[in-house]
Amino acid sequence: MSGPALRQLNAHRSIHEAAYGQVKDMTDVLKRLYQEGRNEEGKQAEEILIEHWRDHIISHADSEEEGLYQDFKKKYPEMSETIAQLTRDHDLLRKILAQIEADLEKEDKTKDRLAMYDSLLIVNWHHSRDEERYLLGE
Ligand SMILES: [Fe+2]
Ligand SMILES: [Fe+2]
Repeated sequence: MSGPALRQLNAHRSIHEAAYGQVKDMTDVLKRLYQEGRNEEGKQAEEILIEHWRDHIISHADSEEEGLYQDFKKKYPEMSETIAQLTRDHDLLRKILAQIEADLEKEDKTKDRLAMYDSLLIVNWHHSRDEERYLLGE
């Protein structure tokens, strides 16, 4: 998603909320599968969840960095520190996701991966609120 929707608070916030709700629900399902010992299905659900993070949240971050953030820096140079912090949040999401993928085939790392899915949700939640506050005038 790019263009005018990202520059408008309500539209942008709905993108955040929809994506967050989806990955939160998918994470809950995933945990239940592992709790019930359905490990094969759990692994498949993880693959779908990782793809969802990439297609919906990381690609949203990429387009912000290419468009909205650049425009902001040009228009309000005094905001470049804030933009750097928000970009760092995106980088944390990318790093945590890369770690999950690196550990995906390791059976003994399932618990660690489940903790990392929670970390993604927490970082993303705070990031979205800050973005709405600092860039969209919430
Ligand atoms: Fe963002
Ligand atoms: Fe955003």
